[in-house]
Amino acid sequence: MSYQQLYARWRDDPEAFWTQAARAIDWDRPASRAYFDQGPAGEWFADGMVNACWNAIDRHVAAGHGDRLAVIHDSPMTDSVTRLTYGELQDRVARLAGVMAARGIAKGDRVIIYMPMIPEALEAMLACARIGAIHSVVFGGFAAHELAVRIDDARPRAILAASCGLEPGRTVAYKPLMDRAIDEAAHKPDFTIVLQRPECAAQMTAGRDLDWTEAVAAATPADCVPVEGNHPAYILYTSGTTGQPKGVVRHTGGHLVALAWSVPNIYGIGPGDVFWVASDVGWVVGHSYIVYGPLIAGATTVIFEGKPVGTPDAGTFWRVIADHKVKSFFTAPTAIRAVKREDPEGSLVARHHLSSLQALFLAGERADPDTVAWAEDRVKVPVIDHWWQTETGWPIAANPFGVEMMAVKKGSPTVPMPGYDVQVLDEAGQPVAPGTLGAIAIKLPLPPGTLPTLWQAEDRFRRAYLDHFPGFYETGDAGYIDEDGYVWIMARTDDVINVAGHRLSTGAMEEVLSSHPAVAECAVIGVADPLKGQAPLGLLCLKKGVETDPAQITAEVVRMVRDRIGPVAAFKTACVVDRLPKTRSGKILRATMAKIADGEAVKAPATIDDPAILDEVRAALAGVGYPMGSV
Ligand code: COA
Ligand code: AMP
Repeated sequence: MSYQQLYARWRDDPEAFWTQAARAIDWDRPASRAYFDQGPAGEWFADGMVNACWNAIDRHVAAGHGDRLAVIHDSPMTDSVTRLTYGELQDRVARLAGVMAARGIAKGDRVIIYMPMIPEALEAMLACARIGAIHSVVFGGFAAHELAVRIDDARPRAILAASCGLEPGRTVAYKPLMDRAIDEAAHKPDFTIVLQRPECAAQMTAGRDLDWTEAVAAATPADCVPVEGNHPAYILYTSGTTGQPKGVVRHTGGHLVALAWSVPNIYGIGPGDVFWVASDVGWVVGHSYIVYGPLIAGATTVIFEGKPVGTPDAGTFWRVIADHKVKSFFTAPTAIRAVKREDPEGSLVARHHLSSLQALFLAGERADPDTVAWAEDRVKVPVIDHWWQTETGWPIAANPFGVEMMAVKKGSPTVPMPGYDVQVLDEAGQPVAPGTLGAIAIKLPLPPGTLPTLWQAEDRFRRAYLDHFPGFYETGDAGYIDEDGYVWIMARTDDVINVAGHRLSTGAMEEVLSSHPAVAECAVIGVADPLKGQAPLGLLCLKKGVETDPAQITAEVVRMVRDRIGPVAAFKTACVVDRLPKTRSGKILRATMAKIADGEAVKAPATIDDPAILDEVRAALAGVGYPMGSV
């Protein structure tokens, strides 16, 4: 079947399309229909009964595949490789679920997971799914305060953590961060389960903290608990425009169906194949394609604890692909740029046998044509850019590699996937002509697997995504669709920036900067960065009468962002200005400042209050090395 036929098959009869796709899943009770016109944006398979852990693990064991490899943990950080079969994974997950169940965790309870890239992180997620608990994984690069914000929003009964994560050159002690977060949060979990890693022993709090290994060894395995198709499988917090992250909800039934469909049809992965996604379980990519997707498909997933470069060198990716016979590999463009910078000729690629590899997938940020071309030339497999978001849970636009490899246009993530009616709208909400820039929106309903709402924030969900263009979901991305139907993603329409494939809120950083006692007003902008795509940069106006050395204040705010949001924010540069450029109505001209920092020609907007301020900003940015040249 061609892509065009596939897309037409969905468009002609979405109900039949998704009903058929749902047959790839084991249901305790099939849903009476696929689409339910209920909730703020519709729901899928709402009255079916199903269990995600059963579909990811137990059914493969029941079908006689218990000896098949489910997980390969490859850790250049600890110089080790660990393998788990589906049978072993079932035992470990059922016991961990048993530990939680014995302490009263039941269907609908929330559990926060704060762990590095080790098999236990995947086990924790699946153990929650097994008993119908709703997990919320918090990325390890976030600081205690960010964890506390999520604890107060999700109100978990338990937190599962490891004693530490391993970053090049340093051990990140997670347990003290978790302790600080629990102290800071108003909500307190009943208990925690802490995995003591050999690299770092955590101090345990008697009566609250359970030792993971001991508890699992002593546990009675728990069975899978069927849940409704619209039971939340998880909450995953993502950056919005403010410091309060958005709790994206994923319903179980649609999640399973969308992943069962996308793993073979987009990534070309089937039972027994090895799928490696070099992201982190703290991001949506990790949820969908490190944990659930490959296991639902009966494939082997690689959990990688390392970096593209420096662990030990820029050949790590190619070594892992060769060692484990990876068939499809997925990473962020920034990781390929990091490899390219260290090994421009690709000499380390040539040292490894990559014959198992069929395609390299890129997402998380725009894949610039130079990076795509470099990877194609060196790795000699199709390089596939695809576009999606935490909210959607699976690709909106992709080259459907498992169906038909379409012609690549470098810089475009190719075409909409079945389920997504992607349209480009003008400010008035009218579709624009092909090739014209506009806001990218998706006609409702969204397909299975996408967010039905935000966690206990339905109004915010409507305001953030549905109200601006009635009848559409607003993606927050701007771009265009060309004459051939290819989608081009050019920029965000909000204050979200993308740093090394990590989605960050400039609004959240501004909240931290504003809390410095010397700061009267501030703005954080995303400036072009040759490695990370974008980097945050802060501009500060100081309060009258402040006499502290501006260099000291900028150093302090850099430290504050690292402490409050986390190292992942990569906030390293700030400068002091007398005034911020604003429109006459008082809106700070962030995009104009970002253009100045990127060395682009800037025309003072007609609405600007005082054009002379732009020269002051230009001088201040020059003082911290901007513009530094085009990417
Ligand atoms: N736990 C604790 N700290 C973490 C962390 C984690 N899980 N992940 C990252 N950090 C820290 C890093 O150690 C770094 O700290 P530093 O400021 O002390 O150096 C900081 O957060 C920024 O990390 P990162 O953005 O990863 O930058 P880097 O300079 O360490 O590495 C790349 C650069 C390009 C190699 C790296 O960004 C990368 O591999 N990116 C891929 C991104 C990706 O997979 N994104 C997921 C979307 S698909
Ligand atoms: P996240 O929710 O963290 O996955 O980030 C989603 C955002 O990252 C999208 O809304 C885009 O702004 C950006 N993004 C992800 N993939 C791509 C891509 N292939 N091309 C351009 N931008 C992308």
